[in-house]
Amino acid sequence: MKKHGAIIGLGYSLPENIVHNSDLEKLVDTTDQWIRERTGIKRRRILEREKPSYDMGVKASKQALENAKISSKDIELIIVSTESPDYLTPSMACVIQDKIDAENAAAFDLNAACSGFVYALTVADQFIQTGMYNNILVVACEGLSKVVDWKDRNTCVLFGDGAGACILTPSDNAGIINYDLGADGKKRKAITIPLTHFNEEELFKRNNKREQVIYMQGREVFKFEVTAMTKSVKKLLAEENMSIDEIDWIIPHQANMRIITNSIKKLEFPIEKVVITLDEYGNTSSASIPIAMAEANENGKFKSGDNIVLVGFGGGLTWASTLIKWL
Ligand code: ACO
Repeated sequence: MKKHGAIIGLGYSLPENIVHNSDLEKLVDTTDQWIRERTGIKRRRILEREKPSYDMGVKASKQALENAKISSKDIELIIVSTESPDYLTPSMACVIQDKIDAENAAAFDLNAACSGFVYALTVADQFIQTGMYNNILVVACEGLSKVVDWKDRNTCVLFGDGAGACILTPSDNAGIINYDLGADGKKRKAITIPLTHFNEEELFKRNNKREQVIYMQGREVFKFEVTAMTKSVKKLLAEENMSIDEIDWIIPHQANMRIITNSIKKLEFPIEKVVITLDEYGNTSSASIPIAMAEANENGKFKSGDNIVLVGFGGGLTWASTLIKWL
C-alpha cells in the first residue's frame, strides 16, 4: 500500500525586529499607502545584520521536534530550502543538523526560490514512499534582508526574514496526496541574485551597479505568478478528480495580496479560507508557506481530514503545488 508523508510537527521562527512601512519611507521614495495598496504588506521582520540566518531555521526545527514529540536523534534526513544561505558550503542543512544534534540524519539544501518549500516536501515524500526514511525534517529558512538592495524601492519594500519547519512521517491514509512541480528557465532573468557571475546586462539594471542583490522585473513576475498559481492548482484538482469545493484551505506563497486575490478569484475559492500572513511578515520567500501553515495550525485552524493546498511560485521561474490531507 502506498505510504504518504504526513506532517506530525510544525515550527516557525521570526526575528523580533519589526520594520514598518513608515520606516521604509525614510530609506527610499515610497509611502505606507503605496506599499499597502500595491502589495498588502504593513510590516515585516528583519534579522539583525550580524546574526546568521540559520539561527531562525534552528529555532523553527526545535519547535517542530517538540510539536511532533520526537527526538532529534530520530531524524533520518534534513532538507533545507533556501535561496539566501549563510554559506555555499557547509549547507544550511548541515549547520542545522549540528545545532539540533540530529547526528543520524543525512542533510542537504535545495534551491527552488519561493517554490522551494513545496519542492522540498515532494522530495521528502519520495523518500517516504520508497521506504528509505521514516522521519524527515523539512525546513525553509530565508534571510533575504541580507541580499536586498535597501536603495531599490521596487524590491526592498517586499521582503522579510523568517523560517518554517515540519516533520514528515509515513501514514497510510493522510499526508501528501499529490503534487505539481514546474519551471520555466527561459524566464530566469526576471528575478536574479548573482553570486560569482555578473554580466554587464545584469549589473547595469541594478542601482549603482550593486552586486549580489535582488533584481526583479516585478510586473513580468506578477503576471507569471497569477497564471502559474491558478494553472497548477487546477491541474492538481483535475488529477485527483476533485472540485475546488472539496478544498478546506489554500496556503499560497505570500508575495503580493493582489497576486493572491486575482488567482483565488480565478479559482472561484472563498478568500476567507486562504491563509494570509503577508500583511505582518512580507515575502519571506520559501519560508512563507511553512510559517503560514505553522501559525494557522497553532491557531487551531486545521482539523483532521482537511484537504489543504500549498502553492508556491517565484524565482527560476518556478512553481509548485501540493495537496495534503491533514492528519
Ligand atoms: N513606492 C512607490 N512607488 C513605487 C514603488 C514603491 N515602493 N515601487 C515601484 N514604484 C513605482 C514604479 O517606479 C512605477 O513608477 P512609474 O510608473 O513612474 O514607472 C510604478 O510604481 C508602478 O510600478 P510597477 O512595477 O508597475 O508596479 P506594480 O503594480 O506591478 O507593483 C510589485 C510592483 C509590487 C513589485 C508587483 O509587480 C509584484 O508584486 N510583483 C511580484 C513580486 C513577487 O511576487 N516576487 C516573488 C518572487 S521573489 C523571489 O523569488 C526572491
